[in-house]
Amino acid sequence: MDLGLRGRRAIVTGATRGIGRAISDLLAAEGADIAFCARNNAAVKERVKELTSEGVRAFGAAVDVGDGPAYRAWLEAVARDLGGVDIFIANASAGAGTEGEAAWEANFRVDLMHSVRGCEALLPHLARSDGGAVVFVTTIAAIETFFSPTAYGALKAALITYGKQLGQAVAGHGIRINMVSPGPVLFPGGDWDRVRRERPEVFAEVEGQCALGRMATPEEVARAVVFLASPAAGAITGSNLVIDAGFTKRVQF
Ligand SMILES: NC(=O)c1ccc[n+]([C@@H]2O[C@H](COP(=O)([O-])OP(=O)(O)OC[C@H]3O[C@@H](n4cnc5c(N)ncnc54)[C@H](OP(=O)(O)O)[C@@H]3O)[C@@H](O)[C@H]2O)c1
Repeated sequence: MDLGLRGRRAIVTGATRGIGRAISDLLAAEGADIAFCARNNAAVKERVKELTSEGVRAFGAAVDVGDGPAYRAWLEAVARDLGGVDIFIANASAGAGTEGEAAWEANFRVDLMHSVRGCEALLPHLARSDGGAVVFVTTIAAIETFFSPTAYGALKAALITYGKQLGQAVAGHGIRINMVSPGPVLFPGGDWDRVRRERPEVFAEVEGQCALGRMATPEEVARAVVFLASPAAGAITGSNLVIDAGFTKRVQF
């Protein structure tokens, strides 16, 4: 299947590790030009080299998406560098590891508001594309009880609601908005790799709840994200695709 991504212009937040790294790798392999950010400048520079070796244009910058003004300025600059924007993938997260009010503040600023600010800044660009598409990377912690109650799960749930409603509002401009909710994703250096080393009993319990008997990989999540962002998914908007190796048990309507 041709995804129709050659020459498309994509912005991905948080693309130096894990799921964002796999998304940007796949977009580059499909021939899309990419602008991405993360906070660690050395890792960004390394990623630019890796992505340009695929023969596409890659623009990387050390930007904290939680810093509203700096983030907006970067989005406008890369929209110019790319010569327009067809795809926006909001992937960066403050994670689930913080507690108390600090967690609510961090997940609000990073998970929710960087996605909202990204859409506000990029919708005019996406409307000029013949296939504008947005994907929010959320989590199953937004849709099912997952250990303790967290700001992370609650604010990702807010993001899913926002994405669905935004999809209705901008459909007339030809822009599609979709969400992908991963379950536990295992990769070297990631959160679940750390849990596997430090709390093997918790890892075994969570892995045991995955009906497929294992956690998902970043590449498996990336394939869903990139498909939803591509013209091949031209009639899909407002959906939330769960990629969790069978972790969640609810019936999805
Ligand atoms: N891993 C899982 O099991 C899992 C499960 C469900 C959902 N998810 C979701 O999937 C997405 C990616 O998760 P992941 O596990 O791949 O994360 P990760 O391994 O921690 O990587 C996160 C990426 O985002 C960047 N980043 C983090 N905070 C940032 C900020 N404030 N500004 C700019 N860049 C930032 C990181 O680089 P720097 O640190 O250099 O900034 C890195 O490139 C998140 O939205 C997460 O909620 C993950």
